[in-house]
Amino acid sequence: MYRYIFLIGALNAICHCLENGLARTPPMGWLSWERFRCNTDCANDPDNCISERLFQVMADLLVTEGYASVGYEYVNIDDCWLERRRDIDGKLLADHKRFPSGIKALSDYIHSRGLKFGIYEDYGNFTCAGYPGIIGYEETDALQFAEWDVDYVKLDGCYALPYDMDRGYTQFGRFLNRTGKAMVYSCSWPVYQIYAGIQPNFSAIQTHCNLWRNFDDIQDSWASVENIIDYYGNNQDLIAPNAGPGHWNDPDMLIIGNFGLSYEQAKTQFAIWSILAAPLLMSVDLRTIRPEFKEILLNRKIISVDQDPLGIQGRRIYKHKGIEIWSKPISPVYQNFYSYALAFINRRTDGTPSDISVTLRELGLINNYGYRVEDLYENINYGILFPKTKIKVKVNPSGVVMLKGETQNINQF
Ligand SMILES: *[C@@H]1O[C@H](CO)[C@@H](O)[C@H](O)[C@H]1NC(C)=O
Ligand SMILES: *[C@@H]1O[C@H](CO)[C@@H](O)[C@H](O)[C@H]1NC(C)=O
Ligand SMILES: *[C@@H]1O[C@H](CO)[C@@H](O)[C@H](O)[C@H]1NC(C)=O
Repeated sequence: MYRYIFLIGALNAICHCLENGLARTPPMGWLSWERFRCNTDCANDPDNCISERLFQVMADLLVTEGYASVGYEYVNIDDCWLERRRDIDGKLLADHKRFPSGIKALSDYIHSRGLKFGIYEDYGNFTCAGYPGIIGYEETDALQFAEWDVDYVKLDGCYALPYDMDRGYTQFGRFLNRTGKAMVYSCSWPVYQIYAGIQPNFSAIQTHCNLWRNFDDIQDSWASVENIIDYYGNNQDLIAPNAGPGHWNDPDMLIIGNFGLSYEQAKTQFAIWSILAAPLLMSVDLRTIRPEFKEILLNRKIISVDQDPLGIQGRRIYKHKGIEIWSKPISPVYQNFYSYALAFINRRTDGTPSDISVTLRELGLINNYGYRVEDLYENINYGILFPKTKIKVKVNPSGVVMLKGETQNINQF
């Protein structure tokens, strides 16, 4: 039955990966796009338009509501922050009505809260929403970001030629590096190439980017989350080995707390994103998020699965009749036995929980000294269980049960 027990081969395969000292664990923070889109109507919708005020308010809430203390640190602008034209010297200008204090002042504000500041641009003639792209101004823009004390750059790929991206994303990465200011570099390089039918060169992508998008933009629906989960499961042999400290696959933002996901579905997104070692970028209105969704986002045990220092992207190890099991090797490791985070998800729509029974051995947990098993949402500690132990979990429709099995050491006996 459990045919997909996986082996960790060549864990430390030679990787000439980007080493700018950043994103040693997947970046965590807040990003405007999924929730606030390209709302530029500050006259009629001042509280929700893309403006310096929105980012200041979110930065404040990251700190006062406890998000910063569990690791969310980046406050990232997405598209629609620019004027439609560069200035006469060819420099980027923020929209003067919506960002009246300028980008450096916003960057300083965010830094003064102990947070980090991210910005958005596009390797093309225009951003996706039609604002000036970086082509022809790559060096100027890299220097401008450094001058603004930017910590994180997301570079989109609209209005660009996908076969030109191997050159373009590489070159911009070099310009960022040469500024001397370390900036996380988030690339949309592979996704546009995949759309164009080009097989991305992931070894080149890992060499130049800290994270990259592989698949569609997330939308505010369970169907969208399911599509992304399927993409990462179906393509895991190609994708998962590319992740590691400093270089991550990015399945896109967390939509937890918005309109489209139920409580169960939100728990499932958080569990699977942590198994995937995904960047945890919330795109939600932190002013109005309901407490039960906030609690999911603040779950320290699940965050520490995502942020595990080994940086191994987990995999789907079982899929049958709407039931899936996902597994991620995590620390501690004793005598080559990993600990594991396990997510049991139920994609069935019959309205009653489904039981899943499985032995630890069938899940690949084969250390005869056993594993300390706990439920990461329910805070139940099952004590030490052994490979032959059969565990039974009850998973709600579109929900998840998430367990951690911490490998035991001979010395404890
Ligand atoms: C970008 O603009 C230049 C100059 O107008 C043009 O030659 C080029 O084809 C454009 N590129 C794309 C991908 O549209
Ligand atoms: C630039 O690249 C070098 C070589 O990979 C690296 O050691 C350095 O930290 C990078 N600097 C910045 C600012 O990214
Ligand atoms: C992929 O990029 C690397 C440079 O990072 C290069 O050495 C290699 O030849 C490229 N592979 C292909 C198939 O183009």
